[in-house]
Amino acid sequence: MDISAHDVLLVGGGGAGLRAAIAVCEVNPKLSVAVISKVYPMRSHTVSAEGGAAAVVKPGDSLDDHAYDTISGGDWLCDQDAVEIFVKEAPEEMLRLEHWGCPWSRDPDGHIAVRAFGGMKKMRTWFAADKTGFHMLHTLFQTSLKYTTITRYDEWFVTKLLVDDGRVQGVVAIELMSGKIQAITAKAVILCTGGCGRVFRFTTNANIKNGDGMALAYRAGAPLKDMEFVQYHPTGLPFTGILITEAARSEGGYLLNKDGYRYLQDYNLGRPQPKPVLLSMELGPRDRLSQAFVKETEKGRTIKGPYGDVVHLDLRHLGEKIVNTKLPFVRELCLKYENIDPLKELIPVRPVVHYMMGGVHTDLNGATPLQGLYAAGEVACVSINGANRLGSNSLPELLVFGARAGSAAAAFAAEQKAPATPVLAQAMDEKRRLEEEYLRKTGGREHIATLRGEMQKDMEESAGIYRTGSSLAEAAGKLRQLQERFANVVLDDRGHTFNTELLAALELSFMLDVAVAIVQCALHRTESRGAHQRTDFPKRDDEKFLAHSLLFWKEDGKPRVDYLPVRITRWPPGERVYGERAAEASAR
Ligand code: FUM
Repeated sequence: MDISAHDVLLVGGGGAGLRAAIAVCEVNPKLSVAVISKVYPMRSHTVSAEGGAAAVVKPGDSLDDHAYDTISGGDWLCDQDAVEIFVKEAPEEMLRLEHWGCPWSRDPDGHIAVRAFGGMKKMRTWFAADKTGFHMLHTLFQTSLKYTTITRYDEWFVTKLLVDDGRVQGVVAIELMSGKIQAITAKAVILCTGGCGRVFRFTTNANIKNGDGMALAYRAGAPLKDMEFVQYHPTGLPFTGILITEAARSEGGYLLNKDGYRYLQDYNLGRPQPKPVLLSMELGPRDRLSQAFVKETEKGRTIKGPYGDVVHLDLRHLGEKIVNTKLPFVRELCLKYENIDPLKELIPVRPVVHYMMGGVHTDLNGATPLQGLYAAGEVACVSINGANRLGSNSLPELLVFGARAGSAAAAFAAEQKAPATPVLAQAMDEKRRLEEEYLRKTGGREHIATLRGEMQKDMEESAGIYRTGSSLAEAAGKLRQLQERFANVVLDDRGHTFNTELLAALELSFMLDVAVAIVQCALHRTESRGAHQRTDFPKRDDEKFLAHSLLFWKEDGKPRVDYLPVRITRWPPGERVYGERAAEASAR
């Protein structure tokens, strides 16, 4: 078996992975760094982020305002020390990106332009038209190219973390082009693999977002945190789930029901104004807007479509100049995927899974409880997102905590000896397992697409915007059956060159673990908070649940759930208010 050795290994080549890799190189130029990614880095999901990245930059805004919006939006489940670090370091990171060449949109006087985003009381979202993720990723990628100590493994897929002596010491990975399975050892491994939206049926997430890193860490012994908190974005295109950015509402778009009525005024989100107002109506928080959609459907006031009910997003009144300069990508997506011109027609939209608040449990420097293992970006839960992430916080999060994880991993790696021989025996075992369970197996009868479709449907129906104890218990049972059936999966492709069927099987096995984690955490949290709404427990319960859930892997398939108190620094738990009441609260 081939082996390559590095000091620090990044799994994932998106925003968090590249920022972390650059940080390692800056901290210690002597370290050998590897970035391994199942896609070419510029195809990572960061590229599809649209609306922008939040950081305090304008007079009149403050770090405390950003912290408060984040914490109240997160329904008080955020760790406030993490949020304080985040809001302070976010502007520094955004400016650093500017110096590396990121073309932020500008005001006419040349200052950084900002736009409003949902759940924020000040405008603080930096943007690059509506292709912010593309420009950020491009900037990070081109910056990473100047470091000769970075080796890239593009289109390689990690199947296992190698752990010996209580420490992560590398990975086993498949080179997709050749099918070669090999060990890549490292003194520290940083997971930056993004989220797991593909566990659900309708999602903004690319096909590559399968919870790989979450499952890798979980199986290796690192706990997953707050997995019950799954964010729906209120405006995805039906069927494809493609994101229609919140920026469309911040520029003045309206959400209308089947009667052409701005229905959000019926959901404690304020009265309609000609232009959306901060913290009100269309600029309310994502969890509340997605929940309002479900209520509106129950009242029979949504529009029936081939892929479920939809409402309409109306941009017609914005005019060509605003749409073409501020929202060109929205127009392009509508034309290409719906054959609709938003200058003249209404856009059908529905809530779709967008982001995981939960992930691998880390400290403020991205370190997991498993020595040598770090995580940053959506795969991780630091936690700054609590029970409901504030829109446009995820891009600065991947910069701030990507940089922190990279620095911490560099310092750790510099102190370690080379990985020990036993990990190589483990790597050989993993190679054998992959060959026996997938490439040489005979007699299986289950197909990946069938199992994946069933999982996605069950998750949408039982663990979606609203859940109950019985819907979740049913999902848990179905997932158990799906895992049993997975043991019978058979591949039609036994080849070595770009065996995407093998890749899909491995991704599905990760997704099933992650789906179980979501359902188990949701079953145990008998309250409603942020994106976790239990109709059988409709109230927030701070007595019992001002705490993060931690889920530990167990070989017998029955994971253990534990709780960790939320860290409160300066903002005691309070009521979340939007609409006119939010304006009054701000004025006080
Ligand atoms: O709507 C959006 O552009 C999404 C932004 C985000 O999730 O932060």
